[in-house]
Amino acid sequence: MNITTNQIRTMFLSFFKKKDHKIIPSSSLIPNNDPSLLFTNAGMNQFKEIFLGNNKPKFSKVVTIQKCLRTGGKYNDLDNIGYSDNHHTFFEMLGNFSFGDYFKKEAISYAWELLTSIQWFNLNKNRLWVTVYYKDQETYQIWINIIGLNPERVIYVGNKKNSNSLSDNFWSMGENGPCGPSTEIFYDPTENFLQHSGEYFKNNQDTQIEIWNIVFMEYNRTLDGELIPLPNKSVDTGMGLERISRILQNKKSNYEIDIFDQLIKSIFQFNKNIYSNKKKSIYIIADHIRSSAFLIAENIFPSNEGRGYVLRRIIRRALRHAHTSGMNKLFFFKLIPTLIEVMGEESNLIKNNIKKVQEVLKQEEIQFNYTIHRGIKLLEDQIKKLKGNILHGKIIFKLYDTFGFPVDLTADFCKEQNLQIDSIGFMKEMNKQKKQTKIANQFAKQYDPVLTIKNHSIFKGYNTYETTSIIKQIFINGKTTNQLNCGESGIIILDNTPFYPESGGQIGDIGEINNKQNIFKVENTKKYGIGIIHFGKILSGKLSVNQEIQAKINIKYRKNIQNNHSATHLLHSALRNIFGNNTIQKGSLITNLSLRFDFSCNEKITNEKIHKIEYIVNEYIIQNSIINTTIDTFNNAQKTGAIALFNEKYNDIVRIVSINDYSIELCGGTHTNQTGSIGFFKIINEKSIGSGIKRIEAVTGNKAILFIHNKETKLNHIMNILNTNEDNISKKIHVLTNTIHKLKNNIDIFIKRELIEITKQLLKKVIHINNINLLIENINISNSNLLRNVIDIIQKKLHSAIIIITTIIEKKIYFIIKISKNLTNDIQANYIAKKIINNIGGKGGGKSHLSEGGGGTKVELLSITLNNIQSWIKKKFELL
Ligand code: SER
Repeated sequence: MNITTNQIRTMFLSFFKKKDHKIIPSSSLIPNNDPSLLFTNAGMNQFKEIFLGNNKPKFSKVVTIQKCLRTGGKYNDLDNIGYSDNHHTFFEMLGNFSFGDYFKKEAISYAWELLTSIQWFNLNKNRLWVTVYYKDQETYQIWINIIGLNPERVIYVGNKKNSNSLSDNFWSMGENGPCGPSTEIFYDPTENFLQHSGEYFKNNQDTQIEIWNIVFMEYNRTLDGELIPLPNKSVDTGMGLERISRILQNKKSNYEIDIFDQLIKSIFQFNKNIYSNKKKSIYIIADHIRSSAFLIAENIFPSNEGRGYVLRRIIRRALRHAHTSGMNKLFFFKLIPTLIEVMGEESNLIKNNIKKVQEVLKQEEIQFNYTIHRGIKLLEDQIKKLKGNILHGKIIFKLYDTFGFPVDLTADFCKEQNLQIDSIGFMKEMNKQKKQTKIANQFAKQYDPVLTIKNHSIFKGYNTYETTSIIKQIFINGKTTNQLNCGESGIIILDNTPFYPESGGQIGDIGEINNKQNIFKVENTKKYGIGIIHFGKILSGKLSVNQEIQAKINIKYRKNIQNNHSATHLLHSALRNIFGNNTIQKGSLITNLSLRFDFSCNEKITNEKIHKIEYIVNEYIIQNSIINTTIDTFNNAQKTGAIALFNEKYNDIVRIVSINDYSIELCGGTHTNQTGSIGFFKIINEKSIGSGIKRIEAVTGNKAILFIHNKETKLNHIMNILNTNEDNISKKIHVLTNTIHKLKNNIDIFIKRELIEITKQLLKKVIHINNINLLIENINISNSNLLRNVIDIIQKKLHSAIIIITTIIEKKIYFIIKISKNLTNDIQANYIAKKIINNIGGKGGGKSHLSEGGGGTKVELLSITLNNIQSWIKKKFELL
C-alpha cells in the first residue's frame, strides 16, 4: 500500500466521521489548567473533565488527532528515543472517544473494521494479536464471539508489576484521574508470522508492535488509590500515527516513514561529514526537532525549570548527539522549513511562528556550542593538573552541574586521552544532589497538596468586585473538610467569585470572604483544575460548606494590578514599535506594585531607547483611550492580528483586549477602562536575563511618582552637600574630581620624597654580622601601607639581609619583616613575627621570607622587644 502519513490522518478522521463522530481539533501540548500534567500525553487529556462528569460534552462521540509529548511524569519516553523503533518524544495520537455513548462492543468493532477492512487499512488479520485485561471477561468474549477471533490470538494479561507482560492493560492518565481496563491490538511485522503461536506472542512481545489501545474508562483513581466508578462508562482509544504509518508504509522503523525520511535527508544536507554508524543519533535529532519546534511554537522557552527545562534537555540532547556525530555547524534551526513541509497543516502553529521558533533554537545552539567549547577547555585544564590517570567524580560532576557539560562527552574525551573516569564518585555527587532536590520537593509538597475539586468556579471579576456566593468546598492541608474555624488557614472554593486567580503573569486577588462577623481573609487566589482556590485564614468566627457568603476583593489592590496590566500591553506595543514585530514576549509578572516584562531582543537597550519607550507609553496614556474587551473565536481573533500569549491556545472562545489599534492581545487578565487611569509610566530597571532576552521593570501611577520623588530627594541631598544647584552640579563634580586628581598627584610626590629620605636614613643604620646585613628600626611614617614600599626599596639595595621595620600610627604598632631567601633555612620571618606579637600584641603572620602584622598596642615594650630580637639574631649569626 503506497500511502502517505497525511492520507492516513484523513482516512482515520473520515472513517469515524462516517460513524457519526464529531471531528475535534488537537488541543494544545500544554494542558489547559491541569496541574497534574506537564505536557499533553494522550488524546483523552482534553476530555478529562468530561470523563469525570464535571463537564457536559457537546458531542457524545468524537474523533481527534492529538499532538502528544511523552517526556515527563507517568509517561516518559525520552531515553528510549534512538534505541527504539516505535517511540517518540513528540507524536500524534489518533483516537476515537465515546462519552457515555457506545461502549466495548462498538469500540472493538470499529477498531477491527478500520484495521482489517479492505476499503480501509486492509491489514492481514493473521498478523494481529489482541491483549485483554485479565479480569475483563466481557471484552474477551467480544473478541471471540462477535469479532470471531481464534481464542489463541486473544491473550489475557495481568498487571505489569506482577507479570512479565510489557503492557498492563489497565490505563490511567497519571497517578490519579480517569482510568479503566483496556484491550490492545498488536501487529506482528516478522516474516514468519504465520507460524507464530499465542505462546510465541507472550514470550516475544518485543518483536510485536502495539498499535491500538482501547480503554474502557470506568473509574476515577483517587489520591489514596481508591477506584471510584465514573458517572458514565466511556471509551478512550489511542493509536500512534507514526506506528500505523510504519506498518502501512511497510517500513522497519517509525523513523523510516515519509515524515522522518525527509527530515533525515535534511540533516544530511546541512552536515556533509556525519560519521558513519550514527543512525541512533540521527533518529534522536529527527525526533527532537519535532518536539522542540512544537513546544517553542506554544511559547515554551528553554530555561532551568519546569517545561522550559524539559525543552532545554531535549534540544541539548539532540545537539549533543549532533556534536558526537561530527556535526559542527549551526544546523538545528535550519531543519524547520522541512519540518513544516512534511507535517503539512499539522504544523501551522510552527509556520505562523517560524521566526520565533528558529531564533530560539539558534540561540540555544549558539549557547550550547559555547558550553561545549568552554567545557572542553575546562576539561583540558583539569587533565593538565591531573596526577594519575583517573578523572575525579567531583570534577565530572562540577563540569556537568555548574557548566552544563554533558557527562558522556567527558567520558568520550577521557577515552581519547586514555584516561579513566571515576563514575562511582560522580554517582555519589549526583545522589547527594538528588537527595537535596528530594528534600526540596517534599517540602514543596506540603504546600502544594493535590486537591480533588468537584465544582466549576465561575469568575465574575471582570465586571464586579463583589459577589454573593456559596461555599462549595473547604480544604485544610490538602484534605477536604466541612468547616474552617477561627485562626485556621485553608482553601475555600466558591460557586462564583470576583477574585482573579493568578494566571497570564497577573498575580491573584486578595480580599475578604465573609458571612456577617465570620471573616476569612483571602491572601492569594489561584486556578486549580476546574476550580478557583482562595488561600487564607479565618480572622473571626467560622465558615462552612454550603453557606452563603459575600466575596469582596481589595479594590485598591486590584486597581493597581489593572493599571499595571494595561501598561504592560502598552509597553509590549511600544517595544514592537521600536524593536520590530519579532519582539516576542517571554514572560511577565504583573503585581499591584510594579510590572515586569521579559522579551527577546538582541540589541543593546540604550538610555535613549528607554526614554523613547517611556515617551511612547506615556503618549498612549495621555490619549486616554478606551480599553475594549471582546469575546470571539480563536480563529477570528487571529485574523485581527491579535498577539496570542500563554494560556489561550486552541480554546474555541478567547478574550481580546484592544487599545485603539495599537495594541490587540489575547488576554484573560483584568484591565482598567481607560489608559488615562495608569497616570504615569516609568521604567525603573532594564537588564539582560539570558542570551537575547531582556527584562524591563516599570512602575505606574503614584508608584512612578514616588520613584521620581525618591530620585529627587537623593539629588537634593547631593546638591546640599556640594552646595550647588541642578544646573551647576555636573560642573561642580567635574571641578572636584579634577582637584582630587591634582591633590593625589601632589601627595604621591610627597610620599616619594618621604620614602627616599627614610630609606637613606635607614641604610645608614644597617649593621653587618658575618656577611649578613641586619636592619632593625622603628620609623616615623604617615601611612602603615608605606612600610611595604620602604622595605622593598631597602631590600633591593641589600643582599643577604634581615630587615625588620616598625612604625607607630595612632598608638598602634605595625611591622614588616623581610628575610633574603638564602637565609630562610636559618631564620624565618614568620617566627620573628610571632615573637613580636607575643610581646606587643596585635595580629599578623606570613611566610618564612616575608611577614607582616599590626594592631599591637604595647608601645612601651616595642624598643625592648626589638633590642632583644637584635641580640638574639646577632648571637645566632655570630655563632654560625
Ligand atoms: N489513553 C490511552 C493511551 O494513551 C488510549 O488513548 O494509550
